[in-house]
Amino acid sequence: MKITLTRLREMKIEQQPIVMTTAYDYPGGRLVDEAGVDMVLVGDSAGTNVLGHTSEVPTTMDEMVLLTRSVTRSCKNAFVVGDLPFLSYHVSDEDALRNAGRLIKDGGADAVKLEGAGVIASRARAISSSGIPVMGHLGLTPQTATALGGFRAQGRGWQQAVKLYDQALEMEDAGVFGLVLECVPEPVAAAITRRLTIPVIGIGSGAGTDGQVLVFHDLLGINSRTARFVRRYAELGDAIREGVEAYAKDVRERGFPQAEHTYPIAPEELSAFESALESRPAGDNALADW
Ligand code: KIV
Repeated sequence: MKITLTRLREMKIEQQPIVMTTAYDYPGGRLVDEAGVDMVLVGDSAGTNVLGHTSEVPTTMDEMVLLTRSVTRSCKNAFVVGDLPFLSYHVSDEDALRNAGRLIKDGGADAVKLEGAGVIASRARAISSSGIPVMGHLGLTPQTATALGGFRAQGRGWQQAVKLYDQALEMEDAGVFGLVLECVPEPVAAAITRRLTIPVIGIGSGAGTDGQVLVFHDLLGINSRTARFVRRYAELGDAIREGVEAYAKDVRERGFPQAEHTYPIAPEELSAFESALESRPAGDNALADW
């Protein structure tokens, strides 16, 4: 059953935890969808996790459309959120709407996500009032982490916590259907969650939110380093490295391929082929006995 906005709201009311992961490509989307997650975020964290950048900032709109399209092709049930990358919504409401529209029309996403409050609430309002579901993201906002003093927890002082709460209300009022709350102390995140009517999905924000999101490459152990809030549920990085090492060893030692990996040719076809070759010149550098 395809997860809808109504279902997400019901899950908050029923206090049924919402499960969200990131995915960045077709096989990743297929696997998390088959595993039964409720929401998939095609995060701009693709910048660090699959594109090799050192932050989310360089991720482009074109890259996000391509990645989102590949994930939405594979997700049959999960609700897919495409992330608006840095500077794709900061300059104007028009820009924000145009780029949100690309993730929906070209990327096939069910919704989009943006980071921040204040002027960003205006962007969220422009997007949601045009009928595109939009999700907010507060606390540690990776696109503007430099301005926040780096990748560090947010809302640890009471004034900062109150500011976060005010921002959450502002974004709810602007029409976001849900909120990601990143790296906020558990009691602060829980209080914000209780006071909002929209679902709040936490990352590094404790158990009191309506759901959790983790990055695919972190939870599956593909990344070698992960933040303290991550639990690794598999060590795929090790499994992949060991698999490729075993393959390389087999190729080098002529252990692969074997007969079962090849396609047969009838003896008469083979001998006709060999006879035909005899009348044809070999390449200049051909090995005599190859
Ligand atoms: O881009 C991303 O992966 C995110 C998550 C950290 C929520 O925004």
